[in-house]
Amino acid sequence: MANSKELTPAKRRNLAELTRGFRGIVLFLFLISGMINVLALTGSLYMMQIYDRALTSGSIPTLLVLSGLVIGLYLFQGGFDVIRSQVLVRVGARLDRKIAPLAHRVAIDMPRFGFSTSEALERGRDVDTVRGFLGSQGPAALFDLPWMPIYLAFIYFLHPLLGALTFAGAFVLTVLTVVSEIMTKRLSLSTRKAAMARNSIADSNARNAEVLKAMGFAGRAVSRFNDANGEHLELQTKANDITGTFAAVSRVLRMLLQSAVLGLGAYLTIKGELTAGAIIACSVASARALAPVDLAIGNWKSFVAARMAYQRLRDTVVALAAADQPMKLPVPSKRLSVEKITVAVPGSGQVILSDVGFELEAGQALGIIGPSAGGKTTVVRALTGIWPVLRGSVRLDGADLTQWREDEIGQHIGYLPQEVSLMDATIEENICRFEPEPDYRKVVEAAQAAGVHDMIVRMPDGYRTQLGPQGAALSAGQRQRVALARALYGNPFVVIMDEPNSNLDGEGEAALTQAIEGISARGGITIVIAHRPSALVAVDLVAIVQNGRMVAFGKKHDIMTPGLQSTARPVSEELQAQVRRPA
Ligand SMILES: Nc1ncnc2c1ncn2[C@@H]1O[C@H](COP(=O)(O)OP(=O)(O)OP(=O)(O)O)[C@@H](O)[C@H]1O
Ligand SMILES: [Mg+2]
Repeated sequence: MANSKELTPAKRRNLAELTRGFRGIVLFLFLISGMINVLALTGSLYMMQIYDRALTSGSIPTLLVLSGLVIGLYLFQGGFDVIRSQVLVRVGARLDRKIAPLAHRVAIDMPRFGFSTSEALERGRDVDTVRGFLGSQGPAALFDLPWMPIYLAFIYFLHPLLGALTFAGAFVLTVLTVVSEIMTKRLSLSTRKAAMARNSIADSNARNAEVLKAMGFAGRAVSRFNDANGEHLELQTKANDITGTFAAVSRVLRMLLQSAVLGLGAYLTIKGELTAGAIIACSVASARALAPVDLAIGNWKSFVAARMAYQRLRDTVVALAAADQPMKLPVPSKRLSVEKITVAVPGSGQVILSDVGFELEAGQALGIIGPSAGGKTTVVRALTGIWPVLRGSVRLDGADLTQWREDEIGQHIGYLPQEVSLMDATIEENICRFEPEPDYRKVVEAAQAAGVHDMIVRMPDGYRTQLGPQGAALSAGQRQRVALARALYGNPFVVIMDEPNSNLDGEGEAALTQAIEGISARGGITIVIAHRPSALVAVDLVAIVQNGRMVAFGKKHDIMTPGLQSTARPVSEELQAQVRRPA
């Protein structure tokens, strides 16, 4: 949990914004609960009046007046109850509207930092948990609890001994609530972990459906899921056992207490210290006093879950407001400088790229080559800000990446990832990056630059073709070209492509070369990572990255051996011997 004393002003503002207006609502709910609880004494008072007044006097008019009054009071109580539950549901909805976008924002970011997608989706579920709890019976019980003294006072007023007995009962039930809190809290943490592990496996199985089918190990994948599911079920059963037991014990205790109140009342009546009506009134009031405790114990599991979910969401909101938005900067147009960057895996701190530095001027195109796992994709992750740099800096026209507003820097960068995955949307929406009202000319221009326009317009729905999850409606090569169009959309200053030709045919490769030439011609900067030299036709500079270091950087003809251009081998030993060492 974030300590509120350590919060920066921005974070505190975020938190305040999140809970703005809620204090007033909580006070309102507290007061309306007070009304409901005062009105709930109606039944007890009615009984007392019936037994001690109407029955003894035998007056029908008294009975009628009393009954009319009671009906009115019950109606009020019901009305307040309806208002309270409607307010609670709306508080949940309002919180959801405020938090859900923030939680989703974090969920999108989490996989970059090594969290699984199911862990990330858990944030969305947290929002549901909080909203669901606020719409359940739990919060009403919690608001009723502080009003228990009303009943205790009422009973005490009828007879101090009865008051003491009910108070003792309430105390025992409260202790039960605390014990059940302690016992469920630990369990619900591990239950949540088990649920996440299970969902993670389900997620991975679904995403590997084709492989599971082709090689027939779906059955084994299912049993792997089943093991995780079993573990989750076991913990869940344990947690339910605990809350179920406590709920039953508290119910029995309450019934015992009610009978004890009745017995003690009878004893006191025999002794002449109490009227018959008061016995019934006490019994009803004590039942009502303890009902919220009972309900609270019954709902404790969901209360604990909702509270933990809210705390996680609160921390999320705090974490998001890490810094204020920097000032707007003019569109970059001069250079990209990479100054001795060191990059580590976020979260683990394991360094996988050290001291990589180079500078590219407008109009230049750089090819990055090197053996697999050498660190090429890592360079790209640092250049695009996907991963933060540990040391050194990446600058656009002199300004560090962190000095650019996140929504604006994205417009100056085009990125084609190594593993292309398109969004579940139309081709148009994919290319224009979900711009609300895209200029069709820009979309077509990008598609033409990527050499994919003709292919798109030949489809029945053209640019409005729905792609399905991960762009499943297209072939791998088509996906790569649509992704290239997305990277080129809006003529970004820097275009970075990670193995853009891994799925391309000859025609696609020609389009790629043309696209790179186009970027250079309009004064943009291109960085291309490639295993196959055909992607490097249009570049003028080449860098070699291996073992997490840049071992060479220079003009293409200085670095590439003629032999390599015609073979599809990765960088060879002899090649390295020929390269010029970087300054
Ligand atoms: N998310 C990650 N967590 C831990 N290690 C990682 C992660 N991503 C990459 N690495 C490690 O960093 C090293 C460099 O990986 P990188 O993806 O940059 O290689 P690459 O040069 O792009 O390889 P390829 O040509 O196969 O795409 C590898 O040893 C890899 O294991
Ligand atoms: Mg790579």
